[in-house]
This record gives sequence, C-alpha cells and structure tokens, in this order.
Amino acid sequence: MQIFLDTAKIDEIRKLVPTGVVDGVTTNPSLLAKAGCKDIKGAIKEICALVKEPVSVEVIGTQADQMIKEAREYSSWKLNTAVKIPMTEEGLKAVSVLSKEGIKTNVTLIFSTSQGLLAAKAGATFVSPFVGRLDDISHNGLEVVRDLAHIFKIYGINTRIIAASIRHPIHVVESAKAGAHIATIPTKVLEAMFRHPLTDIGIEKFLSDWKGLQESK
Ligand code: E4P
Repeated sequence: MQIFLDTAKIDEIRKLVPTGVVDGVTTNPSLLAKAGCKDIKGAIKEICALVKEPVSVEVIGTQADQMIKEAREYSSWKLNTAVKIPMTEEGLKAVSVLSKEGIKTNVTLIFSTSQGLLAAKAGATFVSPFVGRLDDISHNGLEVVRDLAHIFKIYGINTRIIAASIRHPIHVVESAKAGAHIATIPTKVLEAMFRHPLTDIGIEKFLSDWKGLQESK
C-alpha cells in the first residue's frame, strides 16, 4: 500500500520524504488554509518537486462547468496533480469530461460504497472514502474501503482507493488489510507509526550494554 501525507505544510513534507515512506501528498482547502498557503500554485509546485505521485488539489466550484474550468487551470500548470472533485452529480459530470481529457481526478467526500462505485464509473483516477468522518458518526468507514476494493477487483476497475480522513495508526493498518491502494495520513499519525515504547527501551538497553562493555576494557 502506498502512503500519502495529508497536509499542505511544506516543512512537514520535507521532513518526512527522506524516510522513504511518503509516495504522495493530498491537500484540501482546509489544509491549505491551515498551512497559510495563499500562493496555491507556488505551494503545489514545491510539493510536486518532493514526491512522485500526483498531488491532490481541490476545486472550489460546485457546478460542473466551474470545476472543469478550475481543473483545466490546474492542468495548465503542467505539474503532476490530481484534481480533487466533490462527490456530487455535478462533480461526476466534471470527472467524466476531465477523464476524457486525460486530467487525473480524485473524487473526494465519499461516504458510501455506491458513491465510490459511481465515481469510478465516471472515470475517477482516485476515490477517497472518508474513514474517520464515518467512524465519528458511528458508521464503519473501513467497510466502504473493503467493499470498494472487493468490487474493483471483481470488475478489474483501475480506479485507486485512497483511505482518507485517517485518525490513528490502526486506521492505516486496517485500510491496508481492507485493500486500500493508498492511505493518506496526517503528519502526526504517520509520526506515531514510527514509534514503539519497546523500540526506545531496546535502544537504551543496547547502548547502555555497549557502554558497559567499553568501560570494562
Ligand atoms: C483527504 O483527501 C481528505 O481531505 C482528508 O483526509 C480529510 O480528513 P479529515 O476528515 O480529518 O478532515
């Protein structure tokens, strides 16, 4: 499974890319606002230079023609982007046009298997089921990931599933088990995945034993 960072903060991306585990990045208007990015094109350009997979950048329009216009503008930047389009009828009209133009899309705000299925049918490059937000309202977010992975496999659908709205490391592991192609992970969750208290205790013990050996010479 691939790992994307779910952030627009360049310093976080720069810090984690050298670990070799980050394949791509997803942004959304809230994440860009949080990162204080006013120059969206500049920020996306910087991020694209750091990762190999398409960087998701979201449209603001709600009507298909507005979304198509924004997506074509992003595409004219000639960067490796995927245009994030909300899961609505208008959104899928836009996806249908954009996919024929070879513009990559990431259909976002997916909360049911039927939505994911329609987005793939319209030609989405990626679909993003929101695992955490479903769990927040007592639904099972991982079930949507599992069902979509199962259906896409049966029909040989190439759309890639991004498990989004990830809240903790268990969501990542369970998304991998459910067949997500990608998990997009907030920085603090990815950082938590590196750590285990027994690793820290183990390092401390190895170092103190080594120090003891040197002192006994
Ligand atoms: C990513 O594509 C989504 O926009 C993001 O994962 C949403 O996460 P949230 O539910 O924590 O806002």
